[in-house]
Amino acid sequence: MTVIPNSMQARDIAFHIHPQTNMRLHQSEGPLILTKGDGVYVYDDAGNKYIEGMAGLWCASLGFSNRRLADVAYEQMKMLPYGHTFYSRGHPPSVDLAEKLIGLAPVPMSKVMFQCSGSEANDTAIKTIWYYFNAIGKPEKKKIIGRERGYHGTTAAAVSLSGQPHMHAKFDLPFAQFKHTSNPHYYRLHEDGESEEDFATRMAANLEQLILDEGPETCAAFFAEPVQGGGGALTPPATYFEKIQAVLKKYDILFVADEVICGFGRTGNYWGSQTYDLKPDMLTCAKALSASYMPISAFMMKDEIFEAIATQSDDVGSFGHGYTYSAHPVATAVALETLTIYEEMDLVGRVQSVSPQFLERLEALKAHPLIGDARGVGLLAGMEIMRDKATREAFDPAMKVGERVQNVALEHGMITRAMGDRLALCPPLIITSSEIDEIFDKLTAALDTVNDQLTREG
Ligand SMILES: Cc1ncc(COP(=O)(O)O)c(C=O)c1O
Repeated sequence: MTVIPNSMQARDIAFHIHPQTNMRLHQSEGPLILTKGDGVYVYDDAGNKYIEGMAGLWCASLGFSNRRLADVAYEQMKMLPYGHTFYSRGHPPSVDLAEKLIGLAPVPMSKVMFQCSGSEANDTAIKTIWYYFNAIGKPEKKKIIGRERGYHGTTAAAVSLSGQPHMHAKFDLPFAQFKHTSNPHYYRLHEDGESEEDFATRMAANLEQLILDEGPETCAAFFAEPVQGGGGALTPPATYFEKIQAVLKKYDILFVADEVICGFGRTGNYWGSQTYDLKPDMLTCAKALSASYMPISAFMMKDEIFEAIATQSDDVGSFGHGYTYSAHPVATAVALETLTIYEEMDLVGRVQSVSPQFLERLEALKAHPLIGDARGVGLLAGMEIMRDKATREAFDPAMKVGERVQNVALEHGMITRAMGDRLALCPPLIITSSEIDEIFDKLTAALDTVNDQLTREG
């Protein structure tokens, strides 16, 4: 890309460091600068229009032009633009949102704490788990188990929990208390002839072995996303969570559902926990909680956990945790309005009505020469690009085939996301039938283009 001096791109390169970005490549390639949104579309500074097949970072559930959310933010800013929640302070939207979320929880939960991001919600959960096991007299129970390819955020603890080697490299992470069990990526990791159920049994056995190796008395909690997002939009294999939860129960290990992507309708139920029959002890959520119009996340816990930590906070003098912007009044007001909009639009019913078409078009992509596997749920999909489908042979990662498809799709006016050679789709939940067709038509065109290029390149 030619970067024009003094352009937005040039000034960005000069002054701004981007997260999850190759900094050197950024200096030569420059940024894509988006200037406005409308429904499920976004526009760049040159006026190009893109259909947002990823809802930003799996989050803009109501698209990019919801006026009601803007109005609520404006009204709250005029009324009380800031108020903290330390030292028993509060304000009406935080009270209303806490009550509302507890009422919506997939299993009985007692209390909620607010943060600004998914990472902070998971960080808060991790700290609370350590605090809890001290409170109940099991101070040795401290290890936290995540999964290879899991994505739980980038704060030092949340990224330690994540199973993303590129996010640990050179940061001297993960911390030693964090362990990772096998990634249940059935398509890539199953043995010939192994059914999904047998694969799930093997995954549960691997978890059990890890717990036994570490010592069950030292293992505190297991975190999982109902559908793995950043790891590649991976749906769990049949019977996986049933078997995993049995292992956790056997060794008295807490289960935390990371609903940061799956919460609020994404999988065709209000929570991913409902889609996969999860019974978490704690739950974290963010993103669609406010349709991502304001940064806010939430962490919920069961009553027995709350009771134990409440008593301990009395002994210590306070629960020594929190953020300046925990339960920020504008963010909580916007989240509350988001949940009201979900009710009014019958969010779950809406997702269920368009999901069959989305999943049918996804299934059809399996016929494409580049797509080895395609699976999804609700309005969330993951596809595996393969060199040879019959033998499940992948492309050399250095060829960056996934990234090529992503870039060609962008040229076609469609945003998808490549994670290695996995492609994801996670459009805004307001998407219509014709917009679903547009996403798949453009993705198919991009796949065709890259397939032609690869054939020419031999
Ligand atoms: C499942 C999951 N958990 C946690 C996070 C971290 O959220 P944030 O980027 O808001 O810190 C993400 C981010 O994508 C996520 O997908």
